[in-house]
Amino acid sequence: MNLPKSVRLVEVGPRDGLQNEKQTISVSDKVRLVDDLTAAGLSYVEVGSFVSPKWVPQMAGSAEVFASIGRQPGVTYAALTPNLKGFEAALDAKVEEVAVFAAASEAFSQKNINCSIADSLQRFVPLLEAAKAANIRVRGYVSCVLGCPYEGDVTPQQVASVARELYTMGCYEVSLGDTIGTGSAGKTRAMFEVVSRDIPRDKLAGHFHDTYGQALANIYASLLEGIHVFDSSVAGLGGCPYAKGATGNVASEDVLYLLQGLGIETGVDMDTLIAAGQRICDKLGKANGSRVARARLVNH
Ligand code: HMG
Ligand code: MG
Repeated sequence: MNLPKSVRLVEVGPRDGLQNEKQTISVSDKVRLVDDLTAAGLSYVEVGSFVSPKWVPQMAGSAEVFASIGRQPGVTYAALTPNLKGFEAALDAKVEEVAVFAAASEAFSQKNINCSIADSLQRFVPLLEAAKAANIRVRGYVSCVLGCPYEGDVTPQQVASVARELYTMGCYEVSLGDTIGTGSAGKTRAMFEVVSRDIPRDKLAGHFHDTYGQALANIYASLLEGIHVFDSSVAGLGGCPYAKGATGNVASEDVLYLLQGLGIETGVDMDTLIAAGQRICDKLGKANGSRVARARLVNH
């Protein structure tokens, strides 16, 4: 498989990156992060989520964040919505695109959204209908595609079955997430090989976490499988509230470095991106999770 000329990066830092933070992050700091990311050239930013504030308190202010960001032409500002209630709140906040999320493992589905995989998919049907009526595109996520914190191994067939349902019900793209970051390049290739029997490769995306240090290898393996869309989080922010021990998402800066090294276009400026990541890390009092950012910042 030839490598692509360009790749689309889906920046999930403001949502997947921040959702797990225990400390209060002000609306203005979240807004600044989103605006910094679009200034760096990212054309798709997941800004927040409209989920139960009892389940994920950090995302409670998402409507205020949407109200204050400086929307740029050509940028998609998206939000995660678990049900119709969340979708309606997202519509009120003038969200341009939403994402629904299901799991490839039963146990994770119960812990994350308090219902079975089948029930979660049923819950998305009215949401997708409402989204169609409102002319809003819906992206689908499948989590735990290469392993589950409760059940262990997950087969490519389990992933394919959930991904197929999401695609069939109208998700324009399905992002496959290695939520606990235990996947390897071989497993990644095998998974895409199986899932792409049902869904065209240009409708699939990869979402990798770096717990075992394999995320960039898995992205390279995905590129070889003809996958051209990747989710990443600035400064490697994140983790999942329902996946103990899972470290952050793969850092956007590190993915950009990989892609630049392959001559693949993204439209993203490295220095501006590094500055955006370091600014939010300073606010959070956290070490920067991007190795590229750390290396560049000590050498400046
Ligand atoms: P539940 O408790 O089973 O639902 O939660 P419920 O319908 O019984 O509602 C309970 C309460 O929540 C009610 O309020 C509802 O009104 C309220 P009360 O009457 O008790 O005051 N509620 C809501 N409030 C705001 N917005 C909503 C909403 N829905 C209900 N949309 C539910 C079920 C799905 C709501 C809950 O489990 C939930 O919100 N879960 C979200 C979990 C989450 O956000 N996880 C992180 C995202 S997934 C992820 O990170 C993985 C991914 O990044 C991929 C990867 O990394 O691999 C995508
Ligand atoms: Mg994630």
